Amino acid sequence: MKKYEKVFKADYEKWYRENQAYREQAAADPDRLRFHLMPETGWLNDPNGLCQFQGEYHIYYQFTPFEPTGELKLWGHYTTRDFIHYEGWEPVLFPDSDLDAHGVYSGSAFAEDGRIHYFYTGNVKYFDREDYDYIMTGRGSNTIHCESEDGFHFSEKELVMSNQDYPADMSCHIRDPKIYKRNGIYYMVLGARDKDSRGEVLVYCSEDLKSWSYFNRITTKEPFGYMWECPDLFMLDGQLCLICCPQGVKPQGLEFHNVHQCTVMKLDYDFEKNEYTLDPEIRMADRGFDFYAPQTFEDEKGRRILIGWMGIPDADYTNPTVEAGWQHALTLPRELHMKNGRLYQTPVAELLELRGEKRSFAFENGRAEAMGCELVYEAEADFQECRQMRMTLRKGVSLNYEEGILTLDLGDCGSGRTTRQVKLEELKNLRIFSDTSSLEIFVNDGAEVFTTRVYGREGELEILGECKGTVDVYEMKGFVVERK
Ligand code: FRU
Repeated sequence: MKKYEKVFKADYEKWYRENQAYREQAAADPDRLRFHLMPETGWLNDPNGLCQFQGEYHIYYQFTPFEPTGELKLWGHYTTRDFIHYEGWEPVLFPDSDLDAHGVYSGSAFAEDGRIHYFYTGNVKYFDREDYDYIMTGRGSNTIHCESEDGFHFSEKELVMSNQDYPADMSCHIRDPKIYKRNGIYYMVLGARDKDSRGEVLVYCSEDLKSWSYFNRITTKEPFGYMWECPDLFMLDGQLCLICCPQGVKPQGLEFHNVHQCTVMKLDYDFEKNEYTLDPEIRMADRGFDFYAPQTFEDEKGRRILIGWMGIPDADYTNPTVEAGWQHALTLPRELHMKNGRLYQTPVAELLELRGEKRSFAFENGRAEAMGCELVYEAEADFQECRQMRMTLRKGVSLNYEEGILTLDLGDCGSGRTTRQVKLEELKNLRIFSDTSSLEIFVNDGAEVFTTRVYGREGELEILGECKGTVDVYEMKGFVVERK
């Protein structure tokens, strides 16, 4: 496929018929994950349009099926009813119109009255001049709406806003609409970079999801990065939260060591007066190497569920899966709660179904060695005491707790990834999801999480140190994914 040419559904279908061998090559890669969603071939990034509609969860995602380096974006599509059995469908949105010819970028879903409304960004690059920088000039960021009665068949794409509609002090980088409804009014948040290269969130409001007017912008008192991507505004246990991805933030102590951040902010917003205060504490949503652009939605049980991209743009570390023709995955779905002013993430309860045989170990002063040597497992460790400990998660990869700092060390299994840390007053428990080439580590009931890809193929599991407690290790079944 040419880099910047429209792709129509028929082009994709022809390409799909001709690329059985490519699919077989990707499927044979030993780094393919067992219990995570991946692209069948090519590249995946942000989850998009997450929603539950008439019982079924729809998980769309940024998708380049044609090659693993992510050039031209489509919306791929998975569905599930239980987060264990999935169906993989053909893409639902193609870069086939003048509004989105250079990428059907990220967006969201809002289900109401038997319809799903989708809002996304149509990316357009102009090539009529040589001197475009594609930041301040040369790029169109169209906010587009379409809708569906079933999550599979989409209506015509309608332009809602384009660059001339955004405030005059904005750069060309405006994207990733998400809807928040409150007291009968719809608010749309959009990630933005202004002309001074300051990151912020634009807020629009509407009474009918059709005509939108500018409402406000959300940003910090002092500049915090040059661009905020993928904003998500939602109420969680009585607290208004903003999750977004600021780019261009420098490391501070143990914080913000990835090239781009994913942060959680808390707000007090008086929507009648249109005044807000942003809590000055900005926390990292995840402390691993590979977590970005998450999206949340409320399901029919009233749970606030988050799924993230288990990857990150512009990182200097790599994924060897590219050689097999694919790259990246989505995180496990996580249920969110706000407790004592902090975000807690827990894998959704449905995932307990993946657990197979269980082995339990006790450790005291502190040896629980040779607990197993598989790569794919869930381990749950409870510490009655822990002054210091070292837990091997697979050969060469460890979690170390010492002097109040928990360090994830990927050794030589990181493909460029090194260490990431968090300060903890106490280490109470760990829940570790180890897949063939990924780790998700939930610390202290999910108050902190480390999500990362990892490329060591030799298993080894042990705990050593001045600590006392128990570990349960479970074999894990895989997701069942049926290609439709
Ligand atoms: C975040 C992001 C979004 C954009 C999309 C393009 O990873 O850059 O801001 O809409 O990816 O694929």
